[in-house]
Amino acid sequence: MNKEEAKKEIERLVKALQEHNYKYYVESNPSITDEAFDYLLKELEHLEAAHPELVLPDSPSLRVGGEVTKNFETVAHRFPMLSLANTYSEEDLRDFDARVRKTIAEEVDYACELKYDGVSISLTYEAGLLVKAVTRGDGEKGDDVTNNVKTIRSIPLRLHGHGYPNSFVIRGEIFMPRPVFEKLNSELRKELESEGYNEEEIWDKLLKNPRNSASGTLKLQDSAVVAARKLDCYLYALLGDELPEKSHYANLQHARKWGFQISPHMEIHRGIDAVMKYVHQWDKSRQALDVDTDGVVIKVNAEEQQKALGFTAKVPRWAIAYKYKAEQVSTRLVDVVFQVGRTGAVTPVANLSPVFLAGTTVKRATLHNADIISKLDLHEQDMVFVEKGGEIIPKIVAVDLTQRRSGAVPIAYISTCPECQTPLIRRDGEAAHVCPNAEGCPPQIKGRVEHFISRRAMDIDSLGGETIGALYDKGLIQDYADLYDLTKADLLVMDRMGEKSVDNLIHGIEASKKAPFERVLFALGLPHIGETTAKKLAYSFKTMDALMHADEASLLALGDIGEVTARSILAYFAVEKNKKLIERLRLKGLNFELSAEALSNTSEKLHGLTFVVSGVFTLFSRDELKKHIERNGGKVSGSISGSTSYLVAGDKMGPEKMKKAEKLGVKMITETDFQHMIE
Ligand code: IVH
Repeated sequence: MNKEEAKKEIERLVKALQEHNYKYYVESNPSITDEAFDYLLKELEHLEAAHPELVLPDSPSLRVGGEVTKNFETVAHRFPMLSLANTYSEEDLRDFDARVRKTIAEEVDYACELKYDGVSISLTYEAGLLVKAVTRGDGEKGDDVTNNVKTIRSIPLRLHGHGYPNSFVIRGEIFMPRPVFEKLNSELRKELESEGYNEEEIWDKLLKNPRNSASGTLKLQDSAVVAARKLDCYLYALLGDELPEKSHYANLQHARKWGFQISPHMEIHRGIDAVMKYVHQWDKSRQALDVDTDGVVIKVNAEEQQKALGFTAKVPRWAIAYKYKAEQVSTRLVDVVFQVGRTGAVTPVANLSPVFLAGTTVKRATLHNADIISKLDLHEQDMVFVEKGGEIIPKIVAVDLTQRRSGAVPIAYISTCPECQTPLIRRDGEAAHVCPNAEGCPPQIKGRVEHFISRRAMDIDSLGGETIGALYDKGLIQDYADLYDLTKADLLVMDRMGEKSVDNLIHGIEASKKAPFERVLFALGLPHIGETTAKKLAYSFKTMDALMHADEASLLALGDIGEVTARSILAYFAVEKNKKLIERLRLKGLNFELSAEALSNTSEKLHGLTFVVSGVFTLFSRDELKKHIERNGGKVSGSISGSTSYLVAGDKMGPEKMKKAEKLGVKMITETDFQHMIE
């Protein structure tokens, strides 16, 4: 294809993709499948890669991100971004209506909208193109987050149809849909679990609610990561000098035709009683939406009436937000149980009499640690107030003292492990109690075996949590080395284990002996040693013996390992029992050193270098490339930033990646260049 043909084809694809986006987001009536859409997008990216100079400013390929913003520039708003007067009561809402009608003699129509709980954004369009996206900031000036906002697929880069003003501002709320938020959190949880964090640490690290996640995402430097987070946006205010209509509602209907996603839940109501009906109706139905809402916004619809009402110093007199109270219910505390994790950390959990709250039935609430229990002054059988104010885990916010039963006993924190009766300890500066009986405490033992067999460790998929529990209960396993002593006869006496599943299991265990050294190291489950660190250690020390004899200085010299991790490695290998366990695994034939293949390909040649791999390759697969980078002491990163040393560029690499690398002065190399580097 010559350049002229490529230009035509790029224009055709951009137009087609924009049409499909419109059908999807505005009309909710897609005419092609997601796969077909992705195929067109890939085609476009392919052409753009071959002709970077032909990339259009509104190309949908920008949606995949790639631009990096080091510092978000501060930009003044053309129209100040005001906030709204808030109320929680029906009475205040009626007062608002009375004030409005004192100024306005004729009938007043109110636009009733949901108050979306996200981050407000101001978008500027010129000649039909999105030119700026700015956060609220202090209302006068905000941060320029244009690169990140361009990845949000429901925000048009170029407007659809015609009749839009040459220059205007449109405002709305960027949010993270709840299903996206939940998916991100469940992935994060899996990762943290595999790294050996305890339940309390996990809760501490999980994303707190969709709103925080949306605002955090918008401020990420790497727009490719923003694109992956799948933010969404509803627009709710059009501003400018040449708007098509004389009312808020009618203007937004035009905006919808131009390609903006306008809430389908906006309604016009006359009279405050009708407004109250809307408010009450949505207090219930909002739970079913995919987006968090925290109230209703009521706006005088007619532009002329808005003008007559004007503004106070901070807020418009023609609008008000009615906020729903954070949802709270009271229920009875049934009991408090204490859970012991793989690392021995103890988490108190409240069992509650089941109660419906914010869309789900709540039966349990975390109490985190002993301090929280004493702060609540929790007593047995207390009636407690439970809240789910946008947070993922319901929490007990208070005790209803008026309902406390006479003679009720305070909840005492346990002093011994509920599983093995060992006295608990609490290390200096840590909130959690820990059961120190790592060797004899059943949930810790079972938890370690479960980690050992997990997919990214020894990957024995013919074995599951339930079977591990049963094997332990029957006295057949005490630690993961025992797995390799299991015989067919042992297993055949187990309930629900037929000949076939026994054979499968034995086969799976045997096959795991082939797992490479780096996975064996991860499987041991040393505290703080996740998959990446295990690889780093394996590639650097090469054998279990070398690692077991490492001192603190040589661990710290690796660079990516901090003091806490280094000390926990030393502490682990200093324990006699651990050493014995490792010896047994050695005798069973597990890999205690890098494979010959890995060894001959392992070096420190790439120490201190960070690589990004992009595109399609012929000499290596992408995974092989990554393995080579890691084995040679380098780091692999998913996105280009100021700290990227090299971009290994393959065929069909996205144009944005290339542009970004150029902008940041990141050196681009071919796979052959890379091969020379490690030879
Ligand atoms: S109108 C001058 N409409 O609530 C009026 N705001 O406290 C400007 N919000 O900062 C706001 N949904 O981030 C409006 N349908 C809606 C809204 C909404 C959410 C947020 C917005 C604003 C805050 C007001």
